[in-house]
Amino acid sequence: MLLLANAEAWPGFPTSVEMLKAGADSLTAMVEGISKVEADPRVRSVGYGGWPNILGFMECDAAVMDGNTREIGSVGAVPNTMPVARLAHEVMKRLPHVMLTGDGARRFATETGFAVDDMLLDDSKRVWWERLVKEMSLEDVEHFPNVPLAPLLKTITDPERVRDTTVFLSADAGRGIHAATSTSGWAWKYPGRLGDSPIPGAGFYADSRYGAAACTHTGEMTMRCGTARTIVLAMKLGHSLSDAVKLAVEELDELGGGFLGGVVIHAVDAKGNHEVVNFRCEGEIRYWLWDDSMAEPELRPAKTA
Ligand code: GLY
Repeated sequence: MLLLANAEAWPGFPTSVEMLKAGADSLTAMVEGISKVEADPRVRSVGYGGWPNILGFMECDAAVMDGNTREIGSVGAVPNTMPVARLAHEVMKRLPHVMLTGDGARRFATETGFAVDDMLLDDSKRVWWERLVKEMSLEDVEHFPNVPLAPLLKTITDPERVRDTTVFLSADAGRGIHAATSTSGWAWKYPGRLGDSPIPGAGFYADSRYGAAACTHTGEMTMRCGTARTIVLAMKLGHSLSDAVKLAVEELDELGGGFLGGVVIHAVDAKGNHEVVNFRCEGEIRYWLWDDSMAEPELRPAKTA
């Protein structure tokens, strides 16, 4: 058994570990762990602690993937709903669809018993508005939100606050390898923007026969490369985990134009190996690891690409 997650997973990682030890289905164990991450306002990229879109509304993305069946549940730009990872799991369990977005996802949430949750913290609202005001003319401030939003996006790309996520990968006792993600997405994003966290093949992918991958940070890049699918497909074609991740990094490095930033790749293979590689993110990137040879989870430094 193995559980891997990025550093932001700390409020929920022990819950997932304990559930795995107790023999829980690992997808359920990850969803329970992520729900705790979403509920902790100290994690400033996911759930209650996340950042609003440019209009000041919370829109969250999440997904789960069962690597045994390649079934997926995904939700994108869901307003006022917690925990969205659990909502994504419900999509997988109850619907013939893979992904719901926006108002449709919120409607499904109501049908399945999720309360409407005003997620925007007072502190997030204050920071959102103070930052936005700096970008606008006095006339725009007066007319907000009836102003063109696209020009504001060009300048609001704060590396401290944008594009983080929580990602979990697990290998369970039954040799199933699964993935789960959750995020409030890019701070001050254009309304309706989806990151890579709900996009199969970009922000996550799992196939129990070969392994799984999930990404944090600049979803605009992993969506262009299909990063998570690239890694799992490369392993299917015979590449080692390390070579598969190198290939995905090369593809990110080859991108030109568009918005370019950093990406952190998290990946595991079916032999119990793992790789966490930082491609151009600033600061020290760390991740949580637990396997059944370890008494306690460990926080380890990522490799630099
Ligand atoms: N990787 C998270 C996002 O792009 O929203």
